Amino acid sequence: MSLLLTGISELTTNDPARADCHADPGDSFLGIVRDAAVVVSGDGTIEWVGPAGRAPQADERRDLGGRAVIPGFVDSHSHLVFAGDRSAEFAARMTGTPYDGGGIAVSVAATRAASDDELRRLVAGRVAEMRAQGTTTVEIKSGYGLTLEDELRSLRVAREVTPHTTFLGAHVVPREYASDRAAYVDLVTGPMLEAVVADGATALAESIDVFCEPHSAHAFDGDEARTVLEAGRAAGLALRVHGNQLGHGPGVQLACELGARSVDHCTFLGDDDVDALAAARGTTVATLLPGVEFSTRSPYPDARRLLDAGVDVALASDCNPGTCYSSSIPFAIALAVREMGLTPAEALHAATAVSARSLGLDRRVAPGQPAELAVLDAPTHLHLAYRAGVPIVRALNLPHS
Ligand code: NIG
Ligand code: FE
Repeated sequence: MSLLLTGISELTTNDPARADCHADPGDSFLGIVRDAAVVVSGDGTIEWVGPAGRAPQADERRDLGGRAVIPGFVDSHSHLVFAGDRSAEFAARMTGTPYDGGGIAVSVAATRAASDDELRRLVAGRVAEMRAQGTTTVEIKSGYGLTLEDELRSLRVAREVTPHTTFLGAHVVPREYASDRAAYVDLVTGPMLEAVVADGATALAESIDVFCEPHSAHAFDGDEARTVLEAGRAAGLALRVHGNQLGHGPGVQLACELGARSVDHCTFLGDDDVDALAAARGTTVATLLPGVEFSTRSPYPDARRLLDAGVDVALASDCNPGTCYSSSIPFAIALAVREMGLTPAEALHAATAVSARSLGLDRRVAPGQPAELAVLDAPTHLHLAYRAGVPIVRALNLPHS
């Protein structure tokens, strides 16, 4: 059964070749088609995209009533597998206590103590919360288990809701290894990693990540991070890095040197970091997480500087109990526009096309692609940032979803 979607005031395809004759040169990369239609096949694949006046027949028809349609958000950085919360830590930060990663141990203890069913229920609730705000694809990291069993369990729970899972055994050094950091790095790069990839094609993770942060006593320095990433790469995983979050550090350079798909945070960058990211364009994406700067009272990164240097910039939520307990990509877009110098079009592109690329995905709205779409109770994408805080966007539920 094919379905014809009509009544689309503005369709963002992320396919520049589709931009209609009214396209603004400043947003041609969005490939906007006004007064558009989309045909979706019964298995959830896009069959046809174009102006409504030229739409073919379909078995069924749904009129969206003059709403804008966008590719569903691709949240390429989240930590959804955790129990408990750290609201008191957030409140303390608002009155001046800085974030240093020490609170991660609190979430590790709560997560270890939770049952499998409890973790499943919590993750399912957070994924539903994301869909209700327009996110159709999510990457989920482990990192609140930090034992072999608890990391595998976290990845299994994540795998039940997404194929885009990331092994973050190197989130922090757990307390029981505080006096022997090297032994923990050996555990992560040895038995844990072996167990994660044991099943080959059905490995529990597609990527490996490390919190590379010499400014935190809990996280990993450049040498430790390199050891983790090289082991992950040798095991066949794609690379992701938490870098330059709390201060200047080696994370960005390391990610670019090793060909990571993404280096995330990028809050504190020197000119050499910007140059490295620009040179790594097409390979390494700089994923900005403005909800973290909001929730940790950090300065926002200068995204304008990155885009002007030619860097690939993505936006994601980083939803986690410590630095940003918000699963909202519209919130991240609003912050990116207001605080980081992105145009509304660049922010939408960053949260869809570029974040997709950092997961090895193509999220153009085009024939043959999955129909992962979101709909706005508004006529254009400009309303995403303009109507900040108002729930105007949701994943479009189709018969197959
Ligand atoms: O991306 N920085 C490291 N990891 C998370 C925060 C984890 C936590 O505080 O629980 C982040 O900000
Ligand atoms: Fe993170």
